[in-house]
Amino acid sequence: MDIERLRREFPSRRIHHYATVDSTMRAAVGLEPGSVVLADRQTAGQGRHGRWWHSEAGSGIYCSIVLKPAPALTLALGLATADAIARSTGMACDLRWPNDVMLAGKKVAGILVQNAIAGIGINVNQTSFPPELASEATSLRLHTDAPVSLTAIILALLPAVDRFVELDKDTILRLFTRASSYAAGRRVTVAQPDGIIEGTTTGLDPAGFLMVRKDDGTDTLIVAGGVRAAGS
Ligand code: BTN
Repeated sequence: MDIERLRREFPSRRIHHYATVDSTMRAAVGLEPGSVVLADRQTAGQGRHGRWWHSEAGSGIYCSIVLKPAPALTLALGLATADAIARSTGMACDLRWPNDVMLAGKKVAGILVQNAIAGIGINVNQTSFPPELASEATSLRLHTDAPVSLTAIILALLPAVDRFVELDKDTILRLFTRASSYAAGRRVTVAQPDGIIEGTTTGLDPAGFLMVRKDDGTDTLIVAGGVRAAGS
């Protein structure tokens, strides 16, 4: 990752870079809005719901950006991440509500928002994953012939984040619904506290939650993650 180039291209931003850090989320706490924290490697990368984020050295983008509070941030950041990947690599990603960026049916990037700090993890040049992740995770490198430039993705990512987080909530929900094959008409299973439900997605409600219609005709509003394509 060419940090000096990133600092030249974004002179008004504070870009903090660590070779190794526990989590860029923790390192970003207390920094001024606009600040960016990047790491080559995380020793305690955080995922949603207390999970960990596989943070192999030099292979991925591990990035936290300090934002101002804004509506539908998780959805806006997924859109921004998919947009940056498309612009920098030409690869078209899908979005799995609420925070997963998918490539060929597997997760290639994840979004974590904590107190208006945007955490973005992108699997870029990994050529394999630990056995427990192998069926769920992929990288950009696994879908192209040559190594992918981390710098090029970040050059696209920072302006994309700025553009998408400024949009109003209705626009974000409309763009997400258009970009995500999971938002409407998709057979899914969803892990709920009282068990797994199966049904068909029917869109996002005005707050950005996912609506799922079960086969008995009843509607359920999904407020947390746990969405999987049915049969996967
Ligand atoms: C998820 O899909 O569960 C969210 C994953 C978010 C991972 C990123 S990597 C950069 C930032 N620092 C962290 O510790 N987590 C986020």
